[in-house]
Parts: sequence; structure tokens; C-alpha cells
Amino acid sequence: MTKEIEKWWNEVSKSYQEDSKIRTKSAHYGPYAPDENKLKLLGNVKGKKILEIGCGGGQCSIAFAKQGAKCIGLDLSKEQLKHAEELAKKEKVSVKFLKHDIQTLKGIKSKNYDIVFSAFALQYIPDLTKCFREVNRVLKKGGIFVFSFDHPFYSTLSTETFKIIHNYNKSGKIEETETWPDGSKHKFVAYMRKFSDIFDSVLKANLVIEKIIEPFDKKTEKAWKKGNWKETYPPRLVEMIGPTIIFKTKKK
Ligand SMILES: C[S@@+](CC[C@H](N)C(=O)[O-])C[C@H]1O[C@@H](n2cnc3c(N)ncnc32)[C@H](O)[C@@H]1O
Repeated sequence: MTKEIEKWWNEVSKSYQEDSKIRTKSAHYGPYAPDENKLKLLGNVKGKKILEIGCGGGQCSIAFAKQGAKCIGLDLSKEQLKHAEELAKKEKVSVKFLKHDIQTLKGIKSKNYDIVFSAFALQYIPDLTKCFREVNRVLKKGGIFVFSFDHPFYSTLSTETFKIIHNYNKSGKIEETETWPDGSKHKFVAYMRKFSDIFDSVLKANLVIEKIIEPFDKKTEKAWKKGNWKETYPPRLVEMIGPTIIFKTKKK
């Protein structure tokens, strides 16, 4: 399963980076969500040790490093990590990027991080509880874990008809095969979750929920309003239900 996800992200990385044009001024949370400089969920990150899980092209870790944090970014995809390395070099900041499956944080030191951060990556993890328990293990006492992903209600809807096409009651794996303009076929795999599934995983990992945000910010990144993303996030639909959900949790 992870192999399929890794393959997808290696194949799609170049176009994802070109289409999304994620900036490095602030960490972002996802489509139509305000960024961290506006939400201030993490506080001042200067001198803080941050672990980003599912760092993709590295923009969030780079933003934290620019603000004085010591960052490690983990991702499964070598293409995403290549983008991250090159971007960090271009922006003249030091971030350690590692190829690592975030289903377990084996090899990552326990009780060592002030913050664990994840933007739009956890929908690719089959066992969220296992991953969250690992997050708890690597966090210092009182450490913060902030993560975002697709809003579970948004994921049930057709972006063409706005009708429910995925059964909300049936959480689990979804598979779709895309045919690209050159005729090649590519398999997309992700996991749909009910709101209560996410809540349960947080509780089972012994983390405390401090805040849940379901944002809709019209003034977000211009890139989400253009090109390919316009089909995934049609303006009329996102105005009724924002596509991103953000959780702020804390280690006891
Ligand atoms: C939508 S991208 C988000 C990346 C980045 N956080 C951003 O906001 O652009 C999802 C990322 O999760 C990574 N990913 C998926 N499954 C993973 C796993 N099991 N371990 C590590 N990374 C994973 C993918 O390689 C991809 O880079």
C-alpha cells in the first residue's frame, strides 16, 4: 500500500509543486486555510525543535527554519525530498530532510521535540492511531502537535455535482486510477476518515485536543484558485464547506 502511495508522489511531485506554488514565508495548512503567520497556533518557533511529518517539498520546514527553528522534515517520496533539498539550498536555510515512512517514527529520538507539524499528509496513513502514538513518543512533555488534512465532509462530495458520492459511514481506503494526457495510468490511494475516527485516534494516543479549526479564507494562496486546483476546489463549493481541517493537540 505504501509502495503505491510512494509511487504516486514520485510521479506527481513535479506537477504538484508547479501547480500549488506553496510559499516559504509562513507554514501553510492547506487549501483555503489561513497560514501559520495568521493562525499563530505554534507561537514563537525561534529556537524550537520541530519535526515535520510528510514534509513534501519542504516549504513549511523552510518557513520554520527562517523563523529560527531547528527543523527535521520526513517524507516517503524521493522526488518531493529532492524539491525540498533544492528549495532549502536556494533559500539558504538549513533543514535536515530524511526519507522516512511516518507510519512509525522508528529511529527518531523520544521526548525530543517541542513541536510536531503535519500539513495535508496524514490522509495517506492507514493507521492514524499508531502514527499519533509515535508522535506522542517523540514530543517533549507539553509539546504541541498540529496537523491538517482534507475536511472529512468535503471528501464525501463530488466537486462537479456537489452531491455526496463517498459514503461517510464507510471510512477506509479509497483507490482511483487517473489517466493522464499522455495516456499513462496512475493509481491514487488515500484513506477517508470520519470526524470521530480522527478524534478517537487523538485520544488513544493520549494527546489533548486544544483547538479544531474549519477555516475558509477567500484571500488564501492565489494558486488554489487556478488551473487544476479549480476543479478540485470549485469556488462555489469551497464557500459552503472549506476543504481543510486543522487540529491543535498537546502532549500531557
Ligand atoms: C499533499 S502532500 C503534502 C506535503 C506538504 N506537507 C505540503 O503541504 O505540500 C502529501 C505528502 O505526504 C507524503 N506521504 C504520504 N504517505 C507518507 C508516509 N507513509 N510517510 C511519509 N510521507 C508520506 C507524500 O510523499 C507527500 O509528499
